[in-house]
Amino acid sequence: MIEFVSNVNFAPSNPKAENLGNPLHLQMGHKSEVTQPTYEDVSAKLNSGEIKTRVEALLKQYPVKQGALLEVLWIAQSELGWVPQAAVKWAAKICECSPVHAWGVATFYTMYKHVPTGRFLLQFCQNICCHTAGAEDIISIAEKKLGIKAGETTQDKLFTIARVECLGACGNGPAMLVNDDFATDVVNGNLAMPSNVGLNAERLDKIIAWCKERAAKNPQEPKRDPLGGITGAVHSEPLGLDFAPPPPALGVKATTTDKGVSVIWKIAPEVTSLAVERKNGSKWEAIGSPGIKDKEFIDANGKAGCEYRVIATSGTRTAKPSVEVKS
Ligand code: FES
Repeated sequence: MIEFVSNVNFAPSNPKAENLGNPLHLQMGHKSEVTQPTYEDVSAKLNSGEIKTRVEALLKQYPVKQGALLEVLWIAQSELGWVPQAAVKWAAKICECSPVHAWGVATFYTMYKHVPTGRFLLQFCQNICCHTAGAEDIISIAEKKLGIKAGETTQDKLFTIARVECLGACGNGPAMLVNDDFATDVVNGNLAMPSNVGLNAERLDKIIAWCKERAAKNPQEPKRDPLGGITGAVHSEPLGLDFAPPPPALGVKATTTDKGVSVIWKIAPEVTSLAVERKNGSKWEAIGSPGIKDKEFIDANGKAGCEYRVIATSGTRTAKPSVEVKS
């Protein structure tokens, strides 16, 4: 008999399963009872303002609206913090597909959350490489430290712990994601996953302290990069195979140093050129064209308070600008 198992429906078969917290499908809310907002409330929120404009621009870039479903769901999640059932229905309507198709997509990919989570979702890999490197010990340390089991959220709504399958960071096992970022350590005040450095109790402490400090400094989570959003250009011509612009530069940060301002970023492999821009009054001015292998640009004339963004281009196609950051 062939059995299909997706990583969101996998119930632990380990003999000590009772020690492993809730099964994953419950952890991520696929079958758990949560209070669902009404369709009216959700669609009123998502059919207005900036979201409406973003969705309309996005749909123009796909020959078939259903092609935009993943990103429309992602937009709903970034606005609501999770993907309630009404948001799946809304996305299905927007993308002109059946709600059951949209539900299948939304529950297949584990990046969509079907329950509200804490501000920091700690996703610990429990797959084989991380397991042999001590994932179980790390997960139980995290559970003790935060006073919750996997699948639960702390009372202050700061942390949710989840067990997930391979994160693709096996060489750094035990590995975890803090929201969308890999984190096995804190380096120079940032979450980091240095080569071959896995989680241990001490590094986990540092990461939890980093999250608490960030929450204390920023009561509201600062705006995050869209996840590789294929947005930006609007096409009125029939779309060819290469219609999609590249994703924007992600993880852009600007830090004041004694040499000026250091701007860093991450780009997709298809990017062929980059431009760093600094804001001058209300206008953006290009101040440098780093090489595509470069990961940093020093603005020798920059100072604290300057604003920057990075523009990525692939051939003739330009990504939408990165988030704007202040040094
Ligand atoms: S096994 Fe943990 S990241 Fe691959």
